[in-house]
Amino acid sequence: MAGSFWLSEAESVFFSRTKSLVGLDIGSSAVKAVELRLTTNGYKVAAIGTEAVPPDSIVDGSIIDGGVVADVIRQVFEKTKIKTKEVVASLSGNAVIVKKITLPLMSDDELAESIYWEAEQYIPFDIQDVNIDYQVIEAVADDPNQDTMDVLLVAAKKEKIADYSAVISQAGRVPVVVDVDAFALQNAYEINYGIDMSQVVVLVNAGASAMNINIIEGGQSLFTRDISLGGNAYTEALQTDLSLSFEDADLLKRGLPVEGVSMEEALPTILNVTENLLLEIEKTFDFFKATAASDRIDQLFVSGGAAGVEGFVDALEARFDLPISHFDPFRQIAFDTKQFSQELRQELVATSAVAVGLALREEDDR
Ligand SMILES: Nc1ncnc2c1ncn2[C@@H]1O[C@H](COP(=O)(O)OP(=O)(O)OP(=O)(O)O)[C@@H](O)[C@H]1O
Ligand SMILES: [Mg+2]
Repeated sequence: MAGSFWLSEAESVFFSRTKSLVGLDIGSSAVKAVELRLTTNGYKVAAIGTEAVPPDSIVDGSIIDGGVVADVIRQVFEKTKIKTKEVVASLSGNAVIVKKITLPLMSDDELAESIYWEAEQYIPFDIQDVNIDYQVIEAVADDPNQDTMDVLLVAAKKEKIADYSAVISQAGRVPVVVDVDAFALQNAYEINYGIDMSQVVVLVNAGASAMNINIIEGGQSLFTRDISLGGNAYTEALQTDLSLSFEDADLLKRGLPVEGVSMEEALPTILNVTENLLLEIEKTFDFFKATAASDRIDQLFVSGGAAGVEGFVDALEARFDLPISHFDPFRQIAFDTKQFSQELRQELVATSAVAVGLALREEDDR
């Protein structure tokens, strides 16, 4: 399992319990909740559901209307009938900074002592304003003469952690851990597809306001980036270019019919936005190849609601010479369609990857 970055301030709740935690992905367009159960045959979905978030309640990862978001969380718990109180949530975007840093070789204790001091120069915020977590990256080849080590440093703004924790508390649940979207995505990937030491895999989760990108190899994250562009960009562009309401624009980008507008009229706008998204992904790849140890990318998995936009995956395929697959977060996690219906699986398969990854967190991850 990938690095676990426990950013919660409530350290005292790490926990002498084996109970499952609820993965709660508080997205800007929808809240997703997943509870998993470990059976003798592996994981199964015990409960799952989603509930729409009214537009502008969460903007660029900032909770603007906490009361509204807390209500949505309450509704998703009611609908799914999840009784478990303890919740794992996540942050993304500019609330989080992930950096690989190189430090002189030192013991775990020395690292724990000096990490804040070391981190200070890499974090563009006041160190007092962030929580820090880190993980030593195992060197692929153990060189006995090596006198440095790589550390994956994660910093999250305390203010954002507090905001996300507050809405969960307000909804009557207990925020136990605040994680990072990109790492939750990686956890969901590894449980479903395993860890391949020989493949560099790109995970792209295209949501409403952002795309989370995590480039991984052999169970370790090589590079992450959040791009603040996603499904909203399509809706907004269609509204502007074709003078449509939010609702009609939203239907069109899903390829659904809207009275008075043909798909032919909408297509140039959609392709234009896709081109902008692809440019950002391409820039990320170029940067990765220029800076990381590996300059190879072998495979790409795409998830998130915006991956459903007409032509998006085809455009990815045309642009990058890579095998591209839709990420299935239930590939190795039993999703009983008698309990939940095939339609619900269909509805949730694209958007549940982060929530599934969050639900996989366990106490001994730490
Ligand atoms: N079938 C579809 N076709 C096109 N777009 C879709 C489809 N289903 C959902 N979307 C869009 O995907 C986005 C929602 O995806 P998702 O649930 O992954 O985002 P989110 O987690 O709420 O957002 P973020 O993480 O950016 O805050 C919305 O912009 C929605 O309009
Ligand atoms: Mg999301």
